[in-house]
This record gives sequence, structure tokens and C-alpha cells, in this order.
Amino acid sequence: MGSREWGGAEARSYYRNNQQSTVNSQQSTMKALILSGGKGTRLRPLTYTGAKQLVPVANKPILWYGIEEVVSAGITDIGIVISPETGGEVQAKTGSGERFGANITYILQDFPAGLAHAVQVARPFLENSPFVMYLGDNLIQQGDLSYFLKQFIQQQQDALILLRPVANPSAFGVAKVDEIGRVLQLIEKPKIPPSNLALVGVYFFSPVIHDAIACIQPSARGELEITDAIQCLIDHQKQVEACQLEGWWLDTGKKDDLLEANRLILDSYLTTSVAGEVDAQTQVIGRVQIGSMSKVINCTIRGPVIIGSNCHLENCFIGPYSSIADNATLIDTDLEHSVVLDGAKIVGIHQRIIDSVIGQRAQLTVAPRRPKALRFLIGDDCQIELV
Ligand code: DAU
Repeated sequence: MGSREWGGAEARSYYRNNQQSTVNSQQSTMKALILSGGKGTRLRPLTYTGAKQLVPVANKPILWYGIEEVVSAGITDIGIVISPETGGEVQAKTGSGERFGANITYILQDFPAGLAHAVQVARPFLENSPFVMYLGDNLIQQGDLSYFLKQFIQQQQDALILLRPVANPSAFGVAKVDEIGRVLQLIEKPKIPPSNLALVGVYFFSPVIHDAIACIQPSARGELEITDAIQCLIDHQKQVEACQLEGWWLDTGKKDDLLEANRLILDSYLTTSVAGEVDAQTQVIGRVQIGSMSKVINCTIRGPVIIGSNCHLENCFIGPYSSIADNATLIDTDLEHSVVLDGAKIVGIHQRIIDSVIGQRAQLTVAPRRPKALRFLIGDDCQIELV
């Protein structure tokens, strides 16, 4: 720990200024920092050509769910941390915040040196405001952020973290808690986890976190870990509270998590609306959304299913929990519990496709010529299972 005073003047003045204020006025001084940098290695090959936070869930970029959640909690001053590789795409797609009723500032992090490093880089944006930090590849149930934000403000905590029991704690930051739920220790990706309580990627901080970050060193994996900075707050008897998140939470870092997120979002929020053309031979069952300029011919669509705009579907069965993005073509295809991205083409596959993510402009077709054989042009890190 460095010798410099921390939790000092800035943090104290934040509390003095806010002691008499109402929750509402403090809510308006809160900022949000959404992290959309990093490398996205676990979602390769999708992330070779784009940001992992822009991969769609129910046809909407994952990142946008976080932005919407923050805005619905009453925070409209939002900083988004971006990387040099994918930042341009994130910025072009997400814009200035107008569509969300927010004001978005983009903050370039030159290198993914860790979550705490991202906070350091964002300091000029954050100034001395309390803030919520939201990992741009995480999804939490709607309304939960608002609930915990109120608690953070009312109880004037230094940090509020959210915990959730998971089956594979070694893949996360993990909390050791005492019998009444107080956090004793936080460890990032422990080989031998002290509990099954993972740190959810949503954190609430007073400005005192900046002093803690200034005191930590890079971890064994070379990153400045926010987990270590929070541990530092605990070591200095700062008021760090942990709450268990009851609603669902997903870190969409891997294919199966992405499919699960897609299932949950379609299950919870999809409403029926049909803007495209659906012919008389087509059967639409349950909650189904079909975008404008899409044509659906002689298909069975069993919801919840979302189909974007300008798609062509013919002689298909589209089963529950499928999301098909704009400009996709599916002919003579059975598909279920899958995500198909923009411009993909699937024609004449005579086996049902399930649990799959098909990338942008990918083509899955039947060989038009003899010899009858499988012919591939498969990008790096693709996964294909044949029967
Ligand atoms: O998902 C929850 C977990 O998130 C927590 O349990 C862990 O304690 C926490 O360290 C974090 O672990 P991950 O390994 O999942 O973090 P990841 O590297 O995937 O980064 C999370 C988000 O932050 C992602 O959208 C990329 C972004 N990021 C990441 C780094 C390292 C940045 O913007 N800058 C960075 O330097």
C-alpha cells in the first residue's frame, strides 16, 4: 500500500456534499462507465471481425442492454471504454447516446490492461463522481440495477458489489464471505475457490476507488484488477457491501452463454409483431417478431423467435429460442435454439441445426456437384460438429 492519503479530501467532500441530498438528486450526479474494450478471445471466431459487445442477443447488441439498464436507472451521463481495434465500430453503431436518451462519451483504452486500468483511463470523464461500472459483455435482469443503485446511494457506501452463486467459480472473481454475508476476501479467478459466489460485472463505487486503484499492482496475468482494488478498500475498513443478485445474470463470453442469454431475453421480453410478408401456407405459433421487408414462405415458426428485416425464409422450420438477424436467407432448413447473424445464408441442410451460432455472411449450403462430399472454407477457431 502506498503512503499517499486516500479516501481523503475528495471522497470526504463527496460525502459532505451529498449528505443532505435526496436519492434522486444523487442519482443525477452518478455517472456510468461501461467497459467495451478488451480482446474477446473466448468468442472467436465471431470477434475476429467485430467487438464481442456488439454480438447480438435477440437481434440487439449485448452492449445496448447495459446502456438501457443504466438509463432506466436514471443515469444518463455514460462513458464507454473502447479499444483501438473495435472502438470505431462500437462508436459508429452506438452513436452519441441520443437513441437511448443519454449522453455518451467514448474513452479510448490503448491496451486491455485490466478493469481497474480502464477506470484509471476514464478518470477525466468520471472526475469525482460516484459511478456504476458495468462490464459491456454482462447481462442482468431488467430493473435490478435500479434497485441496487438506490441502496448504494441511501447507505452512502464506498463500494457495492453483487454476487451470484455459480457452478464454475474459478472463471470469475470470487468472494469469501462470513456467516452474515460480509465480504472477507475477494480473489480473481482462484484455482481453489473459497466459495461459489462470483462477482457479477456490475459495481457501484464512490470516488475513493481511485485511491485504491492507485495502490494496486498488476496481477499474475498482467492486469490491474478491479477485484484487487476492492480488496484494498476492504483492507482499509472502507464500507464495502455485497448483495446477492436474485435475478438472472450472464457473462456472455462464450457460445453457450450467448445462446443462454438469447433464450432468456426472448423468453422474458419478446412481444409479437409482424411487419414483413407471411404467406398463407406459413404457420406462426407463439410469440414471433418478423421485421419489415422480410418474406416468409411455407414455413413453420414456433416462438419465441425473432427474425430481422429483409430476410428470406422458405420451406423452413424455425423452432423456439432462435434469433435471425437482418438480411439472412434460410431455405429448406430446420433451425432451433440458435443465433444467425446478419447476411448469413443456410440452404438445403437436411439435418436440424440446433445450439448454433452462425456468423455474419456465413454460408451453409449443399454441394451442387459430384462427387458428393463435404467442402469447407472454415475460418480460424470455428467449431463444427457433424453427425
Ligand atoms: O463477468 C464477471 C467477471 O468479469 C468478474 O467475475 C471478474 O471478477 C472480472 O474480472 C471480469 O472477468 P472477465 O475475465 O470476464 O473480464 P473480461 O476480460 O472478459 O472483461 C470484462 C469486460 O471489460 C469486457 O466487456 C471487456 C472489457 N475490458 C476488459 C479489460 C481486461 C475492457 O474494456 N478493458 C480491459 O482492459
